[in-house]
Amino acid sequence: MNLTSEPTIEKVFPEAEDFLPINGTDYVELYVGNSKQAAHYYKTAFGFQSLAYCGLETGVKDRESYVLVQDKIRLVLTSPLIGGTAIGEHIDKHGDGVKVVALWVDDATRSFKETTKRGAKAFMEPVVEKDEHGEIIKSGIHTYGDTVHIFIERKNYNGVFLPGYKSWDSHYKPSPIGLKYIDHMVGNVGWGEMNTWVDFYARVMGFTQLISFDDKDISTDYTALMSKVMSNGNGRIKFPINEPAEGRKKSQVEEYLDFYEGAGVQHVAVATDNIIETVTALRDRGVEFLRVPGVYYDTVMDRVGEIDEDLEPLKELGILIDRDDEGYLLQIFTKPVEPRPTMFFEIIQRKGAKSFGKGNFKALFEAIEREQELRGTL
Ligand code: FE2
Repeated sequence: MNLTSEPTIEKVFPEAEDFLPINGTDYVELYVGNSKQAAHYYKTAFGFQSLAYCGLETGVKDRESYVLVQDKIRLVLTSPLIGGTAIGEHIDKHGDGVKVVALWVDDATRSFKETTKRGAKAFMEPVVEKDEHGEIIKSGIHTYGDTVHIFIERKNYNGVFLPGYKSWDSHYKPSPIGLKYIDHMVGNVGWGEMNTWVDFYARVMGFTQLISFDDKDISTDYTALMSKVMSNGNGRIKFPINEPAEGRKKSQVEEYLDFYEGAGVQHVAVATDNIIETVTALRDRGVEFLRVPGVYYDTVMDRVGEIDEDLEPLKELGILIDRDDEGYLLQIFTKPVEPRPTMFFEIIQRKGAKSFGKGNFKALFEAIEREQELRGTL
């Protein structure tokens, strides 16, 4: 196991004109069993604020969506109102999980044409939606598993979220905890499928590969995985893609694939400017984190060198540290946030580092394996 943290920078695909300019993540939509209670959880535990709503009160008869916001992050939580819907089927198969990773673009029609021309499977033809606040254009394509990308063009819209939603004013406003934007979102795909999806993001969406990790980087005595990180032209969208690798026991990616019944979003990494304050607040509000053993902190400073923070609060909270050529980063991972051991969150603070914490993988995976052991799924 190589514990140095220099990423292997591989520009395996040539630079070309960016045929799919993306301004950022527009929103992330989760299909969940109980959107009303999930909204309360994300407000209470993660400090999100109420933004918008659609459902019976807005004339929507088959589903209900709550939209939450914290700085640049928008979460949409959707549940069906009746049986026999595609949303219900998704939840039955996958449990709660990410359905839509929506991307904010200037031209949703062109985004659809350019990606489908290059082989993307259409999910939604470009459609104009209007209300008294203007109009948006949206379109969509399929990605791994049942997950989709929806392109949102909102330059002619000044409503609270999207047409069809009404503003959701709530008396309950738990304080935000400093989550600022989505740093990256990781997909778990099946055995031997990593390169298929790396190729998809390169060929269909014009992304380039930043980093790759193989099973020599990411393995413990028991389990292994492989990962490649894909990024769009301006670097605002980063999608690491994982696949399981052979190990002596079942890897966390395999466990995910079993319980999610296929490929899907494994974790959403959200950035903060003060990870100590953010994680202290999350922990106080009941969010559970993976813990590495205390011995991690005996040697971490030798590996990462000088940092601005005191080690003691990092150790107390279980925050991990890693360094690359450009700086360092602080990160921590929640336990899964639904009954199935599937999706979780990462909290990350970057202090110059542009990598993903490779130096922490081994300690982290051993922590995950202890959890798997308790679940009887190792
Ligand atoms: Fe991550």
